Amino acid sequence: MNEIRVLAKQLFKLFAIVFVLVSLVFMWLLTYTPSTDSVVIKETEEVVTNDIWKPKDANIELPNMPEKVKKGYYLIAETSKYMGPNAENAADRFSGNNLACANCHLQKGAQAGSGSWVGILERFPQFGGRSNTIGSIEDRINGCMERSMNGKILPESSDKMEAIVVYMDWLSEGIPENRKAEFKGYPKIEIPNVAVNLEKGSQVYQKECVICHGNNGEGVLNAVDGKSYTYPPLWGPDSYNDGAGMNRVITSAEFIKSNMPYLQATWDNPKLTDEEAYHVAGYINSFSRPHKLNTENDYPDKKLKPVSTPYGPWVDDFSAEQHKYGPFPPIMDFYEKEYGIIKTK
Ligand code: HEC
Ligand code: HEC
Repeated sequence: MNEIRVLAKQLFKLFAIVFVLVSLVFMWLLTYTPSTDSVVIKETEEVVTNDIWKPKDANIELPNMPEKVKKGYYLIAETSKYMGPNAENAADRFSGNNLACANCHLQKGAQAGSGSWVGILERFPQFGGRSNTIGSIEDRINGCMERSMNGKILPESSDKMEAIVVYMDWLSEGIPENRKAEFKGYPKIEIPNVAVNLEKGSQVYQKECVICHGNNGEGVLNAVDGKSYTYPPLWGPDSYNDGAGMNRVITSAEFIKSNMPYLQATWDNPKLTDEEAYHVAGYINSFSRPHKLNTENDYPDKKLKPVSTPYGPWVDDFSAEQHKYGPFPPIMDFYEKEYGIIKTK
């Protein structure tokens, strides 16, 4: 009997010791975080955040936007109503067609591959060949006002201009360094070494574009207000003018490849091939559109004119037809040999 009691006591001691030890190990495990591992975890987290970073969705943020940003938003999203032909007050009418800035700068300027404005202010002032000067962001916006919008310049110090720039600044907040390139301009295409084939362009248009932009490129007006566009026009009197960047086949093909057909193509997942985008770009730009006056003064240094600028004068002997429809590689070769200038557009 005594022996059993002693044994029980010893067993109890043993259990108590084991229990304390197990508890200690358990607590140590609970609180232990190895210092080197934590650094690794933090670094991976940062990379992940940069890769999944998204620009702001202006449509969602609209209710929370600071007033000035909101004003800029309406100017670029409903341009015709706030500073175009549909503005109530005639003094507010600066743009000449019923397009919106956001018809070309998609997702209200936030879409990579569509000439996005995310991160744009850092890139200005910038040299521009069209004026042969270092231009401000305001000058660049006015480039689109006079050409893409077929209108008049917005005074540099006007409330409207200021609001647009403030909006662009707001859009750019927080862009990680390693994402900046993606939001700049249009991705390049491989330029086919042939002239635009309007027959091929027409076929692409019928298959991929006509459903929204219409048989005559006239677009579709908004059913509610009958003034702004649900699907904007691609040619005709209410489109961009012939001095616009979109009227150059290479620029237009780059935009189309990365952005159209709408909601089916993005810069990292395009639908058309480079050739299809090229021929259809030539096709939409083969029709009449408003005429920009004084384009002969563009590019004071004519050597800097993009090869697919369809209007002269040029400092080469290629025909007007070839400047409009290509093939462009021979013109590019000429500038490289003759002037040492490498042109991509
Ligand atoms: C018909 C299409 C179209 C419309 C409408 C349009 N733009 Fe543009 N915009 C362009 C093209 C094309 C470029 C040149 C893109 C390129 O070559 O990378 C451009 C370039 C710009 C740039 C310079 C972008 C950069 O990365 O350097 C700014 C800023 C800009 N547009 C602002 C505006 C504003 C503001 C409006 C409205 C007032 C507007 N655009 C309307 C087609 C358009
Ligand atoms: C599903 C409808 C749809 C299809 C199909 C479509 N687009 Fe668009 N397109 C749009 C919309 C909508 C916009 C304006 C986007 C915005 O405001 O956010 C636009 C804008 C454009 C613009 C710039 C604005 C302008 O009016 O100049 C061009 C150029 C363009 N599309 C060309 C094409 C071409 C070429 C095709 C065929 C390859 C095509 N689109 C197919 C709906 C469409």
